[in-house]
Amino acid sequence: MRSIVAVTSDYGIGLDGRLLTHISSDLKRFKEITLGGAVIYGRKTLETYPKQKALLGRVNLMLTRNRELSEPNIKTVDSLDALFVEIDALRRRGFSGDDLFVIGGAEIYEQLHPFVNEVLITRIDEQFEADRHFPNLDQDPDFVRTDVSDWYVEKGVRFRYETWRRVVDQVTLEATLKKDRLALARRNVAEFSQAGTVKKRLEILEDWVQKDGRFVYQLRSGEDVFGFLLFAPEVLGADTATVVLHSDLSLTKNALGTIFETLFAEHQALYSLLLATDERVLIDADLLPGIHTATLPGIDSTSRLIIGTRSDLARGAVGFFPFELGLVALKSDGQALTEVEFLQLGQRVEDSVFKMALKVAGALNKQNGLKKTVDTPFSSSNRPDEPLQLAFDWLTAYFEKKSELPPLPPLSDQALPPFMTKVLDALKDIPYGEHLTYSELAETLVGRKKANDYARAVGQACAANPYALFIPCHRVIGNRGELVGFSGGIQVKDYLLNLELMTRLSRRPK
Ligand SMILES: NC(=O)c1ccc[n+]([C@@H]2O[C@H](COP(=O)([O-])OP(=O)(O)OC[C@H]3O[C@@H](n4cnc5c(N)ncnc54)[C@H](OP(=O)(O)O)[C@@H]3O)[C@@H](O)[C@H]2O)c1
Repeated sequence: MRSIVAVTSDYGIGLDGRLLTHISSDLKRFKEITLGGAVIYGRKTLETYPKQKALLGRVNLMLTRNRELSEPNIKTVDSLDALFVEIDALRRRGFSGDDLFVIGGAEIYEQLHPFVNEVLITRIDEQFEADRHFPNLDQDPDFVRTDVSDWYVEKGVRFRYETWRRVVDQVTLEATLKKDRLALARRNVAEFSQAGTVKKRLEILEDWVQKDGRFVYQLRSGEDVFGFLLFAPEVLGADTATVVLHSDLSLTKNALGTIFETLFAEHQALYSLLLATDERVLIDADLLPGIHTATLPGIDSTSRLIIGTRSDLARGAVGFFPFELGLVALKSDGQALTEVEFLQLGQRVEDSVFKMALKVAGALNKQNGLKKTVDTPFSSSNRPDEPLQLAFDWLTAYFEKKSELPPLPPLSDQALPPFMTKVLDALKDIPYGEHLTYSELAETLVGRKKANDYARAVGQACAANPYALFIPCHRVIGNRGELVGFSGGIQVKDYLLNLELMTRLSRRPK
């Protein structure tokens, strides 16, 4: 809803039931702007119109407590609630918030001010005496002036046009639902924007919770719900991820930052996707009015819109290192590696972050199977971060069978079960090219007597090793020499053991 008003420098709008001045070009502009929309006014303002008649070409909604009052072409309403019922009906007929104009006078401007998101001001550069005033926007932190024209002069009166918008700086996101059918939720975008009151909006959102949407977040400023955000994260695994942001109010950069920070924090895959693309800030305007729809980069095209990519939020990256059977896939949190996986050619990639980055690189087939490896190591960020670079250096030396391996990259000291930590520690001591059986390793941990009982647990700990290869669980084998218990699969384990063995043999002094 918008207010349109002519004010003096101290927000005076009327005296003795009259306007303070008549600027014909302003009245003409008023007509142009409001034509085709709905005008909302108080009974006393009607009295200031020529012959006290409805404004033509506009839906006229007049507030009066006098239920007897009836005027041709004017819909009278006796309360704000009754007004909102009419507004909802208009919205169902296709009127948007921008088509609803509050046109005075002081009582009506005042009462509807909390529902108004934009004020179109004609600023009269005079100090006319006034007994009716518009709410003082200079003292209202919720409004900022977003547009201002040059000064004009008509019959000695200096005036200009100003646009003021309600802004939100402090926003909170509240996840509302997690279901399917984004399309349906999208249809409701229109419905939402038609809702007049906070209560009504909440009802609609509650309704969505029951039926549609993937993730719907309410955008809140304090108690007030002023918009919502639809987010389809699973689409990340398919073609595109979509974020639909609808806000009745303009958002400051700060508010946008909060929104994306929340999204990134809650949806790691989205974050990694953004890292997997060129860094580009789409929204660099100070304010973002109305609906903003953006599509995250498509798989085949990295040039499409990226929404709110923020390097200051960078917390990690993924990297891939090619080897004969596929890729070593790595995750880093910027400080240390957090995960290492082997991905073999043809293997379906399950991890959503790896999947997304590989899709962007064009390395997956339609079934998300690894269809090709890459020629050189690559990372999802523009440059590999330090842990990834150290991992790449280490892997290069390892696969090129260098006699000296550089120091291991830092491995995140994430909380692992105590027994697993013990197993992983023990694994680190098995030298390159050598191997132990599960029982032998268990023996180093629990003694000979219990070794057989613990062999299986050692195997399980190896299979769940988050740092395959860097912690060499491929160097543990079954009691009868079988190659089990390796997170990267038997083939990879066989390959690594052979590689190490051959390298050792070739290094033996002749
Ligand atoms: N500068 C500008 O752009 C501009 C624009 C418009 C008006 N104006 C000026 O503003 C002045 C008029 O403003 P005003 O504040 O005196 O009067 P107003 O806002 O135009 O009308 C007040 C009347 O609206 C009805 N009303 C108010 N709240 C209501 C509610 N919640 N439910 C039902 N009815 C409600 C009542 O009518 P009943 O008494 O019939 O119950 C009330 O007396 C005039 O001087 C006019 O020239 C200036």
